[in-house]
Amino acid sequence: MDNYGAAVERIEVVTGDITKMTVDVIVNAANNSLLGGGGVDGAIHRAAGHGLLTECEGLGGCPTGQAKITGAYELPAKAVIHTVGPVWQGGDNREADLLAACYRNSLQLAVDAGHSSIAFPAISCGVYGYPQGPASRVAVTTIADELRHLGQISRVLLVAYDDSMASLYRRELARLTH
Ligand code: APR
Repeated sequence: MDNYGAAVERIEVVTGDITKMTVDVIVNAANNSLLGGGGVDGAIHRAAGHGLLTECEGLGGCPTGQAKITGAYELPAKAVIHTVGPVWQGGDNREADLLAACYRNSLQLAVDAGHSSIAFPAISCGVYGYPQGPASRVAVTTIADELRHLGQISRVLLVAYDDSMASLYRRELARLTH
């Protein structure tokens, strides 16, 4: 198996509500304020309860491509990593680099905090308008690349909210191992 093979074995595609996933870390697709919003951000804050917003209020926001970690409160996870994806502007404004940075920085933060399993939503693929195909390639390639040197991460869940995203993730994983 090539050196992506071992990494890809630790990546799983699931369809459903990320707030229900029982992993160490749930990643939130937040905005620069970190003060909540709609989409997955709204779902995570609703499920976590008010304590999450209180902690976020003390973080001073987060630049695009960066990530910050908080507790998980009422969520089944141990921590929430808030990352801010790029708004899609046609693809010529470093969107792919910034999206890759979201995945890379979230994984590094999870490792630094001693966690070994993490669930990602499709960052930027909702309100921020990133096309699902290109986003799935950035997500899978970046995560597989990082897992090759982040042995501490034993499990990554790619949580799709619709079947089209799930099949795109699966296509990208297959591309890496064939
Ligand atoms: N579980 C998993 N995935 C979800 C859930 C959920 N409960 N709810 C939505 N999604 C999916 C969406 O279908 C989309 O594929 O998460 C992906 C990201 O969409 P958004 O939540 O809209 O996030 P994003 O596109 O990164 O935009 C961020 O939206 O909610 C606001 O405050 C947030 O301003 C920020 C912006």
